[in-house]
Amino acid sequence: MFDMKNRHFYTTLDYSVAEVRKMIDLAIALKYSRSRKTGDAKEGSHTEMYRSMGYLSGRTRLVPKTMAMLFFNPSLRTRLSFICALAKLGGTAIDLPLSATYPFEFTKGAVMDKDKIEHVKDAVKVISSYVDVIGIRASKLVTSGKDSAKVDPWEKLKQDQIIKSFMEYATVPVINMESNVWHPCQGLADAVTIVEKLALKTPLRKKYILTWVPHPKALPVATPNSQLLSACDLGMEVKVVCPEGFELDQEIMLQAEKRAVLAGGTLGFTNEQYEALNGADFVCAKSWGALKYYGNWEAEKKIRDGLKNWIVDQEKMKLTNDAYFMHCLPVRRNVEVADEVIDGPKSLVYIQAENRMWAQMAILLTLLI
Ligand code: CP
Repeated sequence: MFDMKNRHFYTTLDYSVAEVRKMIDLAIALKYSRSRKTGDAKEGSHTEMYRSMGYLSGRTRLVPKTMAMLFFNPSLRTRLSFICALAKLGGTAIDLPLSATYPFEFTKGAVMDKDKIEHVKDAVKVISSYVDVIGIRASKLVTSGKDSAKVDPWEKLKQDQIIKSFMEYATVPVINMESNVWHPCQGLADAVTIVEKLALKTPLRKKYILTWVPHPKALPVATPNSQLLSACDLGMEVKVVCPEGFELDQEIMLQAEKRAVLAGGTLGFTNEQYEALNGADFVCAKSWGALKYYGNWEAEKKIRDGLKNWIVDQEKMKLTNDAYFMHCLPVRRNVEVADEVIDGPKSLVYIQAENRMWAQMAILLTLLI
């Protein structure tokens, strides 16, 4: 029924709702079968339940599998959580420090008489011959400096040329460690966190709010796209709330809505933050850049200066159903969220970050064994 071996992991949209749930369950089974510090079995209902379901039998080792990771952008969590995921499974992650010093040619048929060292086609075929899986982070930061970086319009970035080139030429699975469009590892880890917090119950109809929050830079949309898709896959009542002009890509919203319906949930949209937060069970805060202003920071900055009141603070959280607070990190404290919320008892941010590792272990085992 499930044939997930050797597939690329570009977006969870490429997997059925049932396949996504299988990866979530495997991640939780892995987490509760090992103590974080000793590797001993943890006690508790999660462990026993998953043992009895046979989730872990013969599926917990990756010896001697290897993963090559290429980061075209900075990363703390994704980089370290993959290194640790491979180590815990008995495999090896190799962080190739190529991106800044080793410019690839991506254009087919290019006459390579300028600065590009190697065509991606040749490099990927060679990398595939050494390793069992390739991880790529290639997300154009909408702003990378103090003010703005020059970026292409959204319609061009949406093509995800870098990771798609790796997927085209690789003869081993490629894992998306964040592209322009998707951050499926973050999405899956968030879903793991929600299911774990609800003691493994499916969060059917629980109210999940993805709220835009302020940030000094215009950030990419990959993470919110994957976060909302994961909540849809869990059958939640999902609502995206953002200021006018910051709407996410319409095509992606439609795809996510179809998944929500399949999973028994809903996807809605509003520009009213207070109204959206009312009665929420989960509040996920995330900032992103306005798609229409990609490459035009000056225009976006003018609007952003008037949106600082979109911060998630304790007053706003009081409107919710004692909601859990979620954020993918890194976070701009007291700009995106007030200290009292992120440091409060309902904050899940460190659990989400830890679950990156368990979710990625599940992805690796699913694709490689
Ligand atoms: N959330 C996330 O992907 O973190 P990093 O950018 O540190 O990898």
